[in-house]
Amino acid sequence: MSDNENQPLEAPGEEAGEGSGEGIAPTGAPIGETAESSTEVCSREGHLEASGDALLRADEVTAGYIPGVSILNGTDLYADEGELVGIIGPNGAGKSTLLKAMFGLVGITSGTVTLRGEVITNRKAHQLVPLGVGFVPQTNNVFAALTVEENLEMGVFLRPGSFKERFEFVTDLFPVLGDRRAQRAGSLSGGERQMVAMGRALMMEPSVLLLDEPSAGLSPAMQDEVFFNTKQINQTGVTVVMVEQNARRCLQICDRGYVLDQGRSAYTGPGEGLIDDPKVVELYLGTLGKAR
Ligand SMILES: Nc1ncnc2c1ncn2[C@@H]1O[C@H](COP(=O)(O)OP(=O)(O)O)[C@@H](O)[C@H]1O
Ligand SMILES: [Mg+2]
Repeated sequence: MSDNENQPLEAPGEEAGEGSGEGIAPTGAPIGETAESSTEVCSREGHLEASGDALLRADEVTAGYIPGVSILNGTDLYADEGELVGIIGPNGAGKSTLLKAMFGLVGITSGTVTLRGEVITNRKAHQLVPLGVGFVPQTNNVFAALTVEENLEMGVFLRPGSFKERFEFVTDLFPVLGDRRAQRAGSLSGGERQMVAMGRALMMEPSVLLLDEPSAGLSPAMQDEVFFNTKQINQTGVTVVMVEQNARRCLQICDRGYVLDQGRSAYTGPGEGLIDDPKVVELYLGTLGKAR
């Protein structure tokens, strides 16, 4: 393995020369003499160790839609408090399924999900929202017939008393939503609708926000805006886990990325490290990853 490669997330010993965990790196530390490497080395054991006090964790999660058919096959992921984590990978890899499984929308058959150390495996979405988990699905994520303000009201219906304060927070972050508060969400541009969807999730003051392909279907300019907005949300202190088809842009803004392949976390490392890793580019990003 060369110095600047990301490590596959494998059980120790599966990879030649891994031994029985010898040299497994703790959080952020590289193996051996890879000190100048920008990528975080991560065997499954190292990953587990690094995820010790993560805000949100998925450990060896198996999940699927049909009994007996697993889409996630032992997926590992963690997000530290304040981190912006990106998940990329080929179509059908299970990226959306992973977010839905963590948000209680897809049944988990084995493995665990924890939030602040508390096991939340298979908790339902309506139980997770009050615990501080927000989710923005890829599609149908706004009420098109309702106004911007009404959409944001829907986001906080569990705590109507905090509407004013949260509305101010969201419109400070996205002033255009304040300007358009009386406009129907269905009449907004794609980028603005995505802002409404994120804003609605932020109304409940989540600790962690799960975003499924927020830039999908948007023009390049709008995509830039979405990535900028996502970074801004993260900078207010919200931990973000984002799935993206726009791998390069995603990895550019995130602290750490995962490559998901066939329902398993194949690689993880700092965003910029992953995008420059020839193996990741070759195997998972193809021409999309090569395009600069
Ligand atoms: N509602 C569903 N019912 C059955 N299979 C599904 C459903 N949604 C997704 N799948 C299947 O799960 C696999 C992973 O899908 P998904 O998580 O959406 O992938 P990604 O988001 O990485 O493109 C695909 O094979 C897809 O066909
Ligand atoms: Mg998807």
